[in-house]
Amino acid sequence: MPDVTLTTLQSLKHNGEKIAMLTCYDATFSQAASQAGVDVLLVGDSLGMVLLGHDSTLPVSVADMAYHTAAVKRGNQGALIISDLPFMAYATTEQALANSAALMQAGAHMVKLEGAAWLAEPIRLLAERGVPVCAHLGLTPQAVNILGGYKVQGRQEAQARQMRADAMALEQAGAAMLLLECVPSELAAEISQAVKIPVIGIGAGAATDGQVLVLHDMLGLSLSGRAPKFVRNFMDGQPSIADALNAYVRAVKDGSFPAAEHGFSA
Ligand code: KIV
Repeated sequence: MPDVTLTTLQSLKHNGEKIAMLTCYDATFSQAASQAGVDVLLVGDSLGMVLLGHDSTLPVSVADMAYHTAAVKRGNQGALIISDLPFMAYATTEQALANSAALMQAGAHMVKLEGAAWLAEPIRLLAERGVPVCAHLGLTPQAVNILGGYKVQGRQEAQARQMRADAMALEQAGAAMLLLECVPSELAAEISQAVKIPVIGIGAGAATDGQVLVLHDMLGLSLSGRAPKFVRNFMDGQPSIADALNAYVRAVKDGSFPAAEHGFSA
């Protein structure tokens, strides 16, 4: 059992304390990040882009996710580990159950799925069978070909209304956590208030219950040379990676990250 559990995260939300989450893909960074006080390590399918050099997350397989989840588990010093179910690994309920089992057996404590209210049924079945689920709304990178690029979601009123309804439906179905990516700050604040489960943001403003960044982005590493607007380079002014990880946790916990400039307006 990790030191940080679902109950810990619920108490942090309840007490108005921020949750620090970071992506992680290997044992060494898992040890460093968990020792720095990162509450949640996300084995994101972003590994397809930042580790493997693909131009999207679509080529990532369940075997890739299980391999990196097992590595993160080996280095972890008490954080909660969430693993992404990759593209098409939960297209049917049977796939969602079998592939979640593979990730949980590799070391995940929770799985993350991208999508809206259509996920209610698999989320309910997973939760009933002992698998906590984080639901990912807003910019869902596995749907990049439907969305027409990596764009802010929820700017139009109809879209915003739908996202609020989806968040409520997913909580109702049994989701243990929500992740909002590239959502206007005001909308993310409303959703965080409306649901009881912890809401983690990335490019979703300062009012969510916690923050996540891609590890490589916050260390100032990028294949394209361009960081998204919502990223701060925590290596700036820091002598070591351990100091940068500590600075990230501090800034999330004291609310100084993200600043207004990292968010999006409607
Ligand atoms: O795959 C990932 O790293 C993610 C984060 C961008 C939230 O889902």
